[in-house]
Amino acid sequence: GSAATVIERNTSFSTLNSDDVSYFKELLGEKSVVEDEDVLLTANTDWMRKYKGSSKLLLQPKTTHEVSQILKYCNSRCLPVVPQGGNTGLVGGSVPVFDEVIINMGSMNNIISLDKVSGILVCEAGCILENLISFLDNHGFIMPLDLGAKGSCQIGGNVSTNAGGLRLVRYGSLHGTVLGLEAVLANGDVIDMLGTLRKDNTGYDLKHLFIGSEGSLGIVTKVSILTPPKLSSVNLAFLACEDYFSCQKLLVEAKRRLGDILSAFEFLDNQSMDLVLNHLEGARNPLPSSMHNFYVLIETTGSDESYDKEKLEAFLLSSMEGGLISDGVLAQDINQASSFWRIREGVPEALMKAGAVYKYDLSIPVEKMYDLVVEMRIRMGQIARVIAYGHLGDGNLHLNISAPQYDDTILAQIEPYVYEWTSEHKGSISAEHGLGLMKANKIFYSKSPETVQFLPLLRTCRAREH
Ligand code: FAD
Ligand code: MLT
Ligand code: ZN
Repeated sequence: GSAATVIERNTSFSTLNSDDVSYFKELLGEKSVVEDEDVLLTANTDWMRKYKGSSKLLLQPKTTHEVSQILKYCNSRCLPVVPQGGNTGLVGGSVPVFDEVIINMGSMNNIISLDKVSGILVCEAGCILENLISFLDNHGFIMPLDLGAKGSCQIGGNVSTNAGGLRLVRYGSLHGTVLGLEAVLANGDVIDMLGTLRKDNTGYDLKHLFIGSEGSLGIVTKVSILTPPKLSSVNLAFLACEDYFSCQKLLVEAKRRLGDILSAFEFLDNQSMDLVLNHLEGARNPLPSSMHNFYVLIETTGSDESYDKEKLEAFLLSSMEGGLISDGVLAQDINQASSFWRIREGVPEALMKAGAVYKYDLSIPVEKMYDLVVEMRIRMGQIARVIAYGHLGDGNLHLNISAPQYDDTILAQIEPYVYEWTSEHKGSISAEHGLGLMKANKIFYSKSPETVQFLPLLRTCRAREH
């Protein structure tokens, strides 16, 4: 049992035929209509290699008009579709469930404009996050979001999942930084919400419905996003704490004392560190003298090199004197900083290398967060390892259960327990990864029935199966 959700193909959907393929070739050109088996195998399989569809066709539109024509046609033929960005999603939403036509956004990768006064970037949805980061770097700006999947994920995928990541603690969620969107509805209608204004209270702000809607309302084709200026001084500390309470206290203190310059507060436990050291080539513990129970990364970003460093060092010194941290090191240069980040960002990859992984992405009040991890270790006993890391600064725990292979007895020890526990503690069963196929029918753990029933009223067409 890798994917526990069992659903049936909707019988009202039709099946792709050769006339459909001819239509798409005529519309997009032969090159953008992909039937190659190897390409399809990759596009049918998710990043974790846990969810697998059986699509026979992948389309690569180059313009909004082409997206519109594709959707209009599929809607009229009742052909199911799945929008796909970089296919780095972790909940089985980016690949077909059955034979949906894959609409891959990778060819819509143009940067349209950057306003160097306001920092507002307008680009197509298929731009890869890392390319946007590099482009902005050359112009003195940064993206307000950063995540381990930056080399492959696309801004349209980020917006559609409302991705959080490593900088949310400083720059907030995409609901704050995305200023506008262009999207195409399932019937082909193009909705132009591509505003570039910080303030616009003329009626409903519909773009917010698309942020985090995971392709269920339409395909995002263009994005306008507010990008902060690149500041000259970035510092990164890699710290050790001996108990979870110290991590929590350190967070409270960091918010209070570093305030304006704090730009990331991440944590991993010793099981995560152990996994990274064993499975990631070249990974080295920045604090090698002994193994600690918890590791915390604190990043500061500011505009005054000596002031920022002094502030951070004073904070670290008093935290050490107060017993909150037991060891720590400040990155001396950019290479060392990226090797520290590699430890934290490398946990998902290390988990993949270790075997099968059951992923839970939870928002839980920080005081309670690690209680669940401790309880899960007791529940799992020797049958699987419990690995915990995440965006502590945002109250977001990544709880991962790692085992040599997928096994229904393991799953039965985890679910529904994890979801019930989270719900009882008023948390969210999806902090940042979305629902996808994995959690589509788990939504009730985090949302009331009235809330769930409200949205379908607004939907024009349900193109997805879930
Ligand atoms: P995909 O995976 O291709 O798609 C994701 C969903 O969005 C699917 O439902 C798809 O149908 C839909 N979609 C994609 N593009 C569009 C579009 N243009 N219009 C409409 N719908 C679309 N997530 C976080 O939030 N924070 C993290 O820190 C984080 N770190 C990660 C680290 C690693 C190593 C990996 C593998 C993943 C990580 N993720 C993280 C999850 C994932 O990368 C993000 O959710 C990312 O935003 C997905 O972007 P994508 O382009 O790969 O989208
Ligand atoms: C992360 O923060 O590393 C990502 O969300 C990926 C994951 O949860 O494994
Ligand atoms: Zn994350």
